[in-house]
Amino acid sequence: MELSLEQKFQEKIDRDERIEPRDWMPDSYRKTLVRQISQHAHSELVGMLPEGNWISRAPSLRRKLGLMAKVQDEAGHGLYLYSAAETLGVERDTMFDQLHSGKAKYSSIFNYPTLTWADIGAIGWLVDGAAIMNQVPLCRCSYGPYARAMVRVCKEESFHQRQGFEIMLTLCQGTPEQKAMAQDALNRWWWPSLMMFGPNDAESPNTKQSMAWNIKRFSNDELRQRFVDMTVPQAELLGIKIPDPDLKLNEETGNYHFGAINWDEFWQVVKGHGPCNKDRLAARVKAHEEGAWVREAAMAYAEKQENRLNKAKTA
Ligand code: 3HC
Repeated sequence: MELSLEQKFQEKIDRDERIEPRDWMPDSYRKTLVRQISQHAHSELVGMLPEGNWISRAPSLRRKLGLMAKVQDEAGHGLYLYSAAETLGVERDTMFDQLHSGKAKYSSIFNYPTLTWADIGAIGWLVDGAAIMNQVPLCRCSYGPYARAMVRVCKEESFHQRQGFEIMLTLCQGTPEQKAMAQDALNRWWWPSLMMFGPNDAESPNTKQSMAWNIKRFSNDELRQRFVDMTVPQAELLGIKIPDPDLKLNEETGNYHFGAINWDEFWQVVKGHGPCNKDRLAARVKAHEEGAWVREAAMAYAEKQENRLNKAKTA
C-alpha cells in the first residue's frame, strides 16, 4: 500500500535523516520551525541590548573588547537564524514586522535590566550557559539549515559563557563589595535563567510534537534540570549562594531538587509586561528605522550591479 506523504516524511524523521529546504514537509512542521527559528533570531538581536548597554562602561579595555566581541557575535547569530528561517519561505521583513509590532515572542530573559557590571558576568555565565544547554541538542535538529546554524552559534556561545564566568570569578575573588555585587547579580538572574527553558513539560503545547519531529531532542524540564545540575557546583566554586532555599542534592540521582518557579512572573514577561519589554522593543524599532538608509543604499547598489551585469551580457 502506497504510503502517504506524511507517513514517508515521518519515516524519514524516524530514520534520523535531515530535512532540507527543497524536501516535502507538512505545513505544520514548516510553521513550527518558522515560529521557533524566528523567535530564536529575535532573541539574539534583542539579547544584544542589555549587554550593549555596558560596552561604554566596561571596567577595562580587555573587558570592553570581550563584551564588544560577544555583542557582535549575537548580531551574527541573529542573521544566521533569520537566513535559516527564510529557507522556509518567510520574508525577513515579515519577521521584523512581527517583532516590532510586539506580535512575535523572544526570550523572556532579555526583558530584565542590567543594573551593575556583575550582571554582564551573570548573563555570560547563566544566560549563555542556559542557551548552550538548549542549543547544543539543536545542532541535531531534523531541519538542516537550523542545525547547521547552531553548530557555529554553539562554538561562539562557549566563549561567551567562559568570559561571563571569568568576570564572576574576578569579582568573587575581589573586594567584599565586588563579591556582594556578584551575589546580587546571581540573586536577580538565577530564576529568570531557569525560565528560559520554557514552561514545565506538562504545560508545554509544543514539546510533544517538536520531539516527534526531532526538532527538540530533550524536553524543557530535562534541559532545565541539566542546567541546574551543571551550574550549582560552579556557584559553589565562586563562593556565592544560589537564591533557592529548597535547593538540595539528591544523592541517589545526582540531580539537584530546586524550588518552585514563579510561572506568573514568566507569563507576565512573555506577555510583554516585564521590567524592560517596552524599552527593548522601542530600541529595536529605533535601530531598524535609523538603519533604513543602509538597507536602501545596499539595495540600490545591488540593483546597479545587476543592471551592469545584464548590460554586459546583452552587449
Ligand atoms: N521566552 C519567551 N517565550 C517563551 C519562552 C521564553 N523563555 N519559553 C517558552 N516560550 C513560549 C513559546 O514560544 C511558546 O509560545 P508560542 O507557541 O506562541 O511560540 C510557549 O511559550 C509555550 O512554550 P513551549 O515550550 O511549548 O514552546 P517551544 O516548544 O517552542 O519551547 C523553547 C520553547 C525551549 C524556547 C524553544 O522555542 C527553543 O528551544 N527555542 C530555541 C532556542 C531559543 O530561542 N533560545 C532563546 C535564547 S537565545 C539566547 O539566549 C541567545 C544567547 O546568545 C544569549
